Amino acid sequence: MDDIDLTALDLFTAGFPHAHFDRLRENAPVHWHSPTAHTPDGDGFWVLSRYADIVTAAGDSGTYSSQGGGNRSGGGTLIEDLPADWAAGVLLNMMDDPRHARVRRLLAPSVAPRTLRLIEDELRERADAIVAAAVAKGECDFLIDLAAELPLQAVAQLLGVPQEDRHRLFGWANVALDYQDRELGEITERTRQAVAETRAYGTRLLAAKKRDPADDLMSLAATATIDGAPLSDMEQAMLFSLLIAAGSETTRNSVALGMAALIERPELWRALWRDRTLLDGAVEEILRWASSTPYNRRTATRDHELHGQRIRAGDKITLWWASANRDAAVFADPHRFDITRKPNPHLAFGRGGHFCLGAALARMEMRVVFTALLDQVDGVELTGPIEYTRSNKHTGVRHMPVRLTAKSVGGQGGS
Ligand code: HEM
Repeated sequence: MDDIDLTALDLFTAGFPHAHFDRLRENAPVHWHSPTAHTPDGDGFWVLSRYADIVTAAGDSGTYSSQGGGNRSGGGTLIEDLPADWAAGVLLNMMDDPRHARVRRLLAPSVAPRTLRLIEDELRERADAIVAAAVAKGECDFLIDLAAELPLQAVAQLLGVPQEDRHRLFGWANVALDYQDRELGEITERTRQAVAETRAYGTRLLAAKKRDPADDLMSLAATATIDGAPLSDMEQAMLFSLLIAAGSETTRNSVALGMAALIERPELWRALWRDRTLLDGAVEEILRWASSTPYNRRTATRDHELHGQRIRAGDKITLWWASANRDAAVFADPHRFDITRKPNPHLAFGRGGHFCLGAALARMEMRVVFTALLDQVDGVELTGPIEYTRSNKHTGVRHMPVRLTAKSVGGQGGS
């Protein structure tokens, strides 16, 4: 397996490299990935590829920490170590319990299904308008004009960001998460600036919310207390950056990759046209298929054994959700895109204590966008090649040129 370099980002420019993970699941379920020219910190790391092992690790945060372990000064959930002063132990998703559980409990009601139902009608209207504008153009970039817009509008609304600022934030998030012109662990002047601009914007927004709180998530973050103490300034600012990135990057990629799968399978698009009860199942299959967050890392907090492999405190361990989601031990015919798959216990949103806080929001966004498309669009066809994201951290699309045909009354549904 030593020919597989998961840190060489060019491996990901045609989508997620499933063939390599088929081999890993089969032959080396707990694989030691030796350091390569691209590996940050000069460290090797463990690669878990089977569903069962990933579920075990994600459910045992005592052994598999999201923060750090051993003698490391930093840690976090990327292959590269992030410093403890602004990431590991500060970002919600890179924090261990008990602090993690307490911050999470504070935020959870704001994104609970009950709360989201209150904004569903508004999201529907937004999705209808987004699709109508794209249909009016005829030819457009499905990623930019369609898939990215609703998640961005929704996260701006939830956080209490003025809608007119959303494209600026989108631009910064794109640059911060982009690996087009850099390798893992490298920070360019462009990324440094985008990260700084996002943080400065978040700090200004939080100060405004502190002075004049409203009914939104950033007002909550600015004013809430745990044991009588507010979240630290850095925790608040990093929460803003996390939610902007998590809220905008992931869902758009699932929507775009889902649409690409449907364009290749026009019979499924027509089936959805005829029978909307298939939509919830289609959303789950798109989530499994796209696995737009392909992996998260943990750090071993103690020496232990897994499948006969000796893991030491401080070792990096990567959990590949995208691989678990194609594990034949759990999913029959795993490389088949099947919108009627049942059950579909995919791990696209992770598992355990860090299970995606935005899962209900992402599902709702996907449902309303595909509903608006099915309502208004007869056929979608690609007019050029899909440009995939050059990243092993986000599986997705940068550009996807399409032609949309408006639905004619009484039409039969093409694609
Ligand atoms: C299709 C869309 C999405 C996918 C595939 C996705 C995937 C994930 C995954 C795999 C994790 C677990 C990380 C880990 O275990 O280390 C996670 C956590 C998280 N996600 Fe999502 N996500 C999506 C949408 C969203 C949205 C829309 C938001 C917020 C507005 C969001 C906010 C978060 C947060 C805050 C966490 C950290 C939770 C914690 O550590 O307790 N995500 N997500």
